Amino acid sequence: MKYSLSIRAIHWLSAATIIGLLILGVYMTPYDIANIEHSESLYFWHKSFGILSFLFVVVRIINKRRHALPELPTTMPKHEKLAAKFAHTALYLLMIVVPVLGYLQSSTYEFSSGIHFFGIDLPELVPNNNAIFEITNILHKWASYSLIAVLVAHVAGALKHRFLDKENDVLNRIL
Ligand code: HEM
Ligand code: HEM
Repeated sequence: MKYSLSIRAIHWLSAATIIGLLILGVYMTPYDIANIEHSESLYFWHKSFGILSFLFVVVRIINKRRHALPELPTTMPKHEKLAAKFAHTALYLLMIVVPVLGYLQSSTYEFSSGIHFFGIDLPELVPNNNAIFEITNILHKWASYSLIAVLVAHVAGALKHRFLDKENDVLNRIL
């Protein structure tokens, strides 16, 4: 049994968006003061796609509840099933927490250019506050790096089942 078409579509849409955001995030920081226009434009796209990725995860959670989900193969060892479920839960948590921290750090940063969602300027939900900025800035960074770590394990697991223990191939169900 495959995942439903909508689950598969949103999995790959958000995977592409998040991987792009991780690369852009690392590339654009620290803010290049000597090239303000270029930096501002990268931050603009990072914030816009970051908020889009948050909308994706909200739609994704609602949509997932409306569909029957395939069970993991019965031939898969228990510890691998546990690891897969743990990784999926961690990915969901990080898909929520990372953009929320991004929004908070942009709101609280004194010199922020605002919060952009493509053409729309969104409100700063929390007033400027340097102490909260410092914390959310570090947490956004480390939560993003944790997302990279879980993602690497998630992809490694998928490839292992695909190529090493083919009877447990799960990639087909999400393609
Ligand atoms: C899933 C969504 C997101 C991912 C994966 C992500 C990832 C990243 C990464 C990897 C960095 C670089 C961290 C570093 O090395 O210092 C970064 C920086 C940043 N992100 Fe995000 N981000 C996301 C969403 C957002 C959102 C929604 C906003 C704001 C509305 C945002 C605002 C920022 C800002 C302002 C920085 C630069 C911080 C600095 O200059 O120190 N991010 N992000
Ligand atoms: C940031 C990128 C990614 C995130 C956040 C992510 C997240 C998830 C989550 C939460 C699931 C559970 C099903 C669901 O609720 O949709 C899943 C399933 C899956 N993902 Fe990803 N994924 C990402 C990228 C990838 C990539 C690049 C691959 C390629 C190898 C991949 C392979 C799979 C497979 C094979 C499944 C099905 C597992 C099963 O049948 O239970 N994912 N992914």
